[in-house]
Amino acid sequence: MAEVARFDIQRFVQLSRAVDLSDLDWQAAAHHGISDDERRILRYMADTEAHTILYLRDLLAGHTAHDPEVTAFLACWVYEETHHGIALDRFLAEVGYPSSKNQYTRVAAGAAFAEEVEAFLSQSAAKLTPHFAAAHMAWGALNEATAAAAYTALARTTGNPELAKLVTKLARDERRHYSFYYHQADMRLRAHPLARFLCRSALNLFWGPVGIGVGGTREVIELIFARFFSDREGRAEIDRIEAQIRALPGQSAFSKLSQARDRSLRGNHAMASITGVAHRLRFPQEAVSGEQRRRDFA
Ligand SMILES: [Fe+2]
Ligand SMILES: [Fe+2]
Repeated sequence: MAEVARFDIQRFVQLSRAVDLSDLDWQAAAHHGISDDERRILRYMADTEAHTILYLRDLLAGHTAHDPEVTAFLACWVYEETHHGIALDRFLAEVGYPSSKNQYTRVAAGAAFAEEVEAFLSQSAAKLTPHFAAAHMAWGALNEATAAAAYTALARTTGNPELAKLVTKLARDERRHYSFYYHQADMRLRAHPLARFLCRSALNLFWGPVGIGVGGTREVIELIFARFFSDREGRAEIDRIEAQIRALPGQSAFSKLSQARDRSLRGNHAMASITGVAHRLRFPQEAVSGEQRRRDFA
């Protein structure tokens, strides 16, 4: 199996910065507005990005805290992700959907019980053996790849050119993050059979779409799969990401991502048949401009 190209951590640290919003035209963003589906998806994305610091806790547990390459990456990573959250929050506010004052606290407090158990188990495993880090890294690669794919699909489908511009920048960052995690996972899985076993088990037992429990609900995840990954191109994109994870040493049986997609699409289809008509009547899918929102609430 070919080794994955080295990741240049020094270059990553040098280039790390908050997402640049200087070329965004906020007036145009407000003028074009967003649809109700986009509002729900963006709220979920903003909350997940803003809570990256909670995932940092798990990633720093155990032996990775002593690895200078990992700690240098994580310091920049959490800074960039936090700024992704800030950028999406600003965008939502500009188009007429400001977050509530205590949004961060409310979302953090609402973290699902399953999420807490998962964090406890993964932190404990990480303390017991340095080989568990491989699972954390593969997990990170998977989440970064799916985030990049979702942002890219949003850029392609939205009628708001400023939103497309913003999420294209975010997707670029997620792909940089992905290469770090993927390289780390590959290196660590190659090194030891226990790493391969723990990674396989952790992904199979616990992996689910990022942010479930932290801002994400099953309905939003189903909506994202339905909007972005239900057509031929979208389904192929999920298969492509899954194939990359399967190419990691010892992970050739991984199928949780396509399972999540298929389950979500079935769920969304069922939900749509039951509530679709009522929902469409309450929340029409034409984009509502920020000006319109301000008039509605004046
Ligand atoms: Fe991000
Ligand atoms: Fe990322």
